[in-house]
Amino acid sequence: MSKEIVVSGIRSTGHLHLGNYFGAIQNYVLMQENYDCYFFVADYHSLTTHPDPKDLKANVFRVVAENIASGLNPDKVALYAQSDVPEIPELYLMLNMLAYVGELEKVPTFKEKVRTQPENVNAGLLTYPVLMAADILIHRAVKVPVGKDQEQHLEMARNFAVRFNNRYGNFFPEPQVFRFNNDTVKIMSLDGSGKMSKSENENNTIYLSDSDDTIRKKIMKAKTDAGPIAPNTEMPDYIQNLFLLMHLASRKEIVDIYRSQYNNCNIRYGDMKKQLAEDMAAFVRPIREHATELQKDETTLRMILKEGAEKARASASVTIEGARKLIGINYY
Ligand code: AMP
Ligand code: TRP
Repeated sequence: MSKEIVVSGIRSTGHLHLGNYFGAIQNYVLMQENYDCYFFVADYHSLTTHPDPKDLKANVFRVVAENIASGLNPDKVALYAQSDVPEIPELYLMLNMLAYVGELEKVPTFKEKVRTQPENVNAGLLTYPVLMAADILIHRAVKVPVGKDQEQHLEMARNFAVRFNNRYGNFFPEPQVFRFNNDTVKIMSLDGSGKMSKSENENNTIYLSDSDDTIRKKIMKAKTDAGPIAPNTEMPDYIQNLFLLMHLASRKEIVDIYRSQYNNCNIRYGDMKKQLAEDMAAFVRPIREHATELQKDETTLRMILKEGAEKARASASVTIEGARKLIGINYY
C-alpha cells in the first residue's frame, strides 16, 4: 500500500526555538518512518517581512541544519527550500483565481499584521494562505503536522481544494491537521506573555542555538509567583508552561516530585527552575552541537537541498500537469 502524503513547512525568519521543536519538528521526526514526507523551508513566505538579502541564505541553511540535528533524516524525507520548486508559485497563481479578497482580509493572522505593521501591508501578506495552500496541495498531501496557530490556514487550504475540485473535477484531497496522540503542544513565552516565537521576546524564548548558560539564565528568570496557598490549586498558565517544559525535558520521577510539592504547597520555584535549566540544557546541547557542525559543511547542506528539491519537483510536476489539463491549459 502506498504511504500517506505529509507536508509541512517552517519559515526561515529566525532561529528555531522550543515551540518549533515540540510543536512541529518532533512530529516530523516521528512521521518520517511511516509516511511519504515533504518538509520544506518556507523562504518565499519569509519575504512578506522583507528580510535583509544577506541574511536569507544563512537563515535557510540554519533551519535545514537544525531540523537534521533534531532527528530529521534527509534520506527518508524530501527536505527542500520552497523557492527551489517553481511548481509551487505556479499552483499559487492558479489558486489565487479561486481565492476571494473578502475571505483573505478576514484571516486573523492578516488582520494582526495590518495592526502591527501598518507600514507594510503587502499583497503577499494577504495571499499568504494561498501560497500555503499551494505548498500543501502541490503534493496532494492529506496530513499536515502544524501547531494550533495554523489551523485556520489549513481550513482555507481545504476550501481552495474543494473549490478547485468543484470547478474543474475531483483532483485535490482535503488536507487535515495532524498531531501524534492528538496532542497540541503550545509552548508559551517564559514571561507568560503569549506563545514562544521567533521574532518577539528573545529573552523569554529558548532557541535551539542557545548555549547552556543562556538557557540557564533564561529559565532562572522565567515568571513565577509566591506559590500556591491551598492544596491542589489550579496552576496559572506560566507555571503550567514550566511544568510542560519539565515534562518534555526531565525524567518522569522528577516531574512527579515537583508536581506533588506544588499540590502540597511546599514547592520552591528556584529549585524547580534550577533542575529544569539543567535538564533543558542537556536536552538542547546535542541538537545545538550537531547543528553547528552541519552549518560548517555548506557543501553537504547544498547537496541535501538539491536532492530534496529533486524529490519535491518529481511529485510537484505531476500535480501541475494534472491541474493544467483540468483547467484547459493543454495546447500542445
Ligand atoms: P513558524 O515559526 O511560525 O514558521 O512555525 C513553524 C511551526 O512551529 C508551525 O507548525 C507552528 O505551529 C509551530 N510553532 C511555532 N511556535 C510554536 C509554539 N510557541 N508552540 C507550539 N508550536 C509552535
Ligand atoms: N505558515 C506556517 C507557519 O507560519 C509555515 C508554512 C508555510 C506551512 N507553508 C506551509 C506549514 C505548509 C505547513 C504547510 O508556521
